[in-house]
Amino acid sequence: MRYLDLPDGGKIPVLGLGTWMMGDRSSRGQDIEDALRLGLDLGMNLIDTAEMYADGGAEELVGRAIAGRRDDVFLVSKLVPSNASRRGTLAACERSLKRLGTDRLDLYLLHWPGSLPLAETVAAFEVLRGAGKIRYWGVSNFDRAGLDRLWALPHGRNCAANQVIYNLGRRGIEFDLLPELRKAKVPVMAYSPLEQGRLLGHRAVADLAKKRGVSPAQIALAWVLNQEGVMAIPKAANPRHVRENRAALELKLSPADLAELDQAFPPPTRKEQLDMI
Ligand SMILES: NC(=O)c1ccc[n+]([C@@H]2O[C@H](COP(=O)([O-])OP(=O)(O)OC[C@H]3O[C@@H](n4cnc5c(N)ncnc54)[C@H](OP(=O)(O)O)[C@@H]3O)[C@@H](O)[C@H]2O)c1
Repeated sequence: MRYLDLPDGGKIPVLGLGTWMMGDRSSRGQDIEDALRLGLDLGMNLIDTAEMYADGGAEELVGRAIAGRRDDVFLVSKLVPSNASRRGTLAACERSLKRLGTDRLDLYLLHWPGSLPLAETVAAFEVLRGAGKIRYWGVSNFDRAGLDRLWALPHGRNCAANQVIYNLGRRGIEFDLLPELRKAKVPVMAYSPLEQGRLLGHRAVADLAKKRGVSPAQIALAWVLNQEGVMAIPKAANPRHVRENRAALELKLSPADLAELDQAFPPPTRKEQLDMI
């Protein structure tokens, strides 16, 4: 696995495993746990989950998948903004730890900006860090203005990551958010890197995949992984997809490939509102 630097010099894997939709009624059980274990076996040693996914069901499923190998995993979870008061954050973290069957998270994120005071959430994150319950904390779905508000708070600069949507079809962050995060050495965690599968039928992606003898998903993922300071968390329940995604790490896109993709998916030329799904 390749790693990105965190602001304090720690490391975060560049390719992990998403878990949205896992653990709900349509997607639970041994097969899903096996898909996560396969990803870990292949070296995709980061799992991204959230208290919100399947109402805690995804965290429980992850807990079963990592049982006996907790130390091999960079474990990420998120709390919903309505829980993000000082006391609420501490309590939500305890519940997540219990469902995950562990005593610590590697990274704990605020899922999206909410209406409770952000200073309280940050203060609680710092308490959790001091107690060893989380190694790092960060945010998700924070735009440039949100980031400025966060960075102005006491300890706000301890934010270790921002998880946002980023893929070939959603390049808005390249205009201002991504450069700013790069400058601060805060990694971007690219969620929905395959646009939930919708990118894979795009003509330009399919054509390039054919030319390079790889799958469309591998083109889409390799493109995200080619961006400096960005890691990706594709979700795959199908073992064939898991293997393909892992192999995308070895795929190097040429300058000509990148130019072809830029043609089909132009970078932003002005500030765009941060997308969120
Ligand atoms: N912070 C946030 O607000 C936020 C929001 C959305 C997502 N996320 C996180 O980011 C993760 C990834 O995003 P996502 O789940 O929205 O979408 P995604 O990873 O872009 O796409 C997942 C879909 O693509 C399919 N897929 C995966 N690998 C494939 C391959 N090699 N070939 C063909 N199809 C493939 C999956 O099918 P199978 O499952 O059948 O294999 C699934 O239907 C989530 O699971 C979650 O952990 C965070």
